[in-house]
Amino acid sequence: MGRNPLHTKLCDMLGIDFPIIAFTHCKDVVASVVNAGGFAVLGEAMHTPDDIAADIKWIRSRVGDKPFGIDLVLPASAPDADTLEQMLAKIPDEHKRYAAYIKEKYNVPDPKGQQALHQWGGLTHEIARKQLDVILDERVPVFVSGLGSPAFMLKAAHERGMKVFGLIGKARQAKREIEAGVDVIIAQGYDAAGHTGPIGTFSIVPEVVAIAGDTPVVAAGGVTTGRHLAASLCLGAAGVWTGTLWLASRESDNDMIIKEKLVAATADDTVYSKSVSGFAMRVLKCPWTEEWAKPEAPRVLNSPYQMLLSSDYIQAANDHRRADLMFEAAGQGVSFIDAMKPAKQIVNDMVEEALSVFEEITGESAA
Ligand SMILES: Cc1cc2nc3c(=O)[nH]c(=O)nc-3n(C[C@H](O)[C@H](O)[C@H](O)COP(=O)(O)O)c2cc1C
Repeated sequence: MGRNPLHTKLCDMLGIDFPIIAFTHCKDVVASVVNAGGFAVLGEAMHTPDDIAADIKWIRSRVGDKPFGIDLVLPASAPDADTLEQMLAKIPDEHKRYAAYIKEKYNVPDPKGQQALHQWGGLTHEIARKQLDVILDERVPVFVSGLGSPAFMLKAAHERGMKVFGLIGKARQAKREIEAGVDVIIAQGYDAAGHTGPIGTFSIVPEVVAIAGDTPVVAAGGVTTGRHLAASLCLGAAGVWTGTLWLASRESDNDMIIKEKLVAATADDTVYSKSVSGFAMRVLKCPWTEEWAKPEAPRVLNSPYQMLLSSDYIQAANDHRRADLMFEAAGQGVSFIDAMKPAKQIVNDMVEEALSVFEEITGESAA
């Protein structure tokens, strides 16, 4: 076949062996994936600036000079600097009553501790700005904006030798961010875990590829196998951005209850719901999402108010390890997660499967 089909321009840009990007909230997964020849980005939206600085130091101690990324969310609709009490006061009584009804119906206990405001990154512009300052000061090799355009900080990042990736769900957002000068655009489809748009991965990826010019496009949403990786490259992507894939990995610090749920789940166990954060989000179905989907439920609030409302349920479920209540963001590719493998093995299996798919298609050896 000649050249290795898995060696893309993303590999050249980042100096990585395989065009596989892991998004994770777990530092150990970051270190394992980077050291296995992939690329990894740590989600830090819920961390304080000090914690972010400490995590960056920890990752550097594990991966040396190899590049990695940090992800924040920068939603345009966040209030400027309200206190938690001020924000809670803005939640209508009707919504508080519905949350209380769910709590009573499912016997949801109180959380063990008070949720600190800093844990909800992207909640106010002030918090997001302080988080971003750490990332710029530390000159983290890659910054990813998981929500909201990073255009306003591109100049500062580029001056520091950093690269900036934007994650989008619609072609018009991609166009704006590419024109602003992002280094990589992640085109994410409806299959994805977490916040995502209504367009399928199979449609959004080639649509963005068609307008991206030289900017590498990375495919996201439902990618959990080597066959998905091969298909993404065939759609014109230069790599894949994956989240669900790492949740049940050996290194992941997720609760074992969640890992077991993920291994057992299929795409049908996920739901696209605004009830968790106020933004459309794919998660495992749970009593909270099911109750808010009912016709008698009030209209969900915008972010961050819906997130404040759901946080009591989420924290209680996790604090008390109530398997009947617990849930996690999960994409439709969860159907293919059937074991708790080390992250390095996940990378290797994905590479091997993608190469064998290319061999199947071309009839030639791909490696
Ligand atoms: C548990 C979980 C939490 C997530 N949290 C964030 C986040 O904080 N910021 C972000 O940009 N994306 C977040 N995402 C979305 C991922 O970055 C990624 O876009 C998505 O998982 C890709 O779809 P996939 O899960 O089908 O691979 C999260 C995903 C998961 C599974």
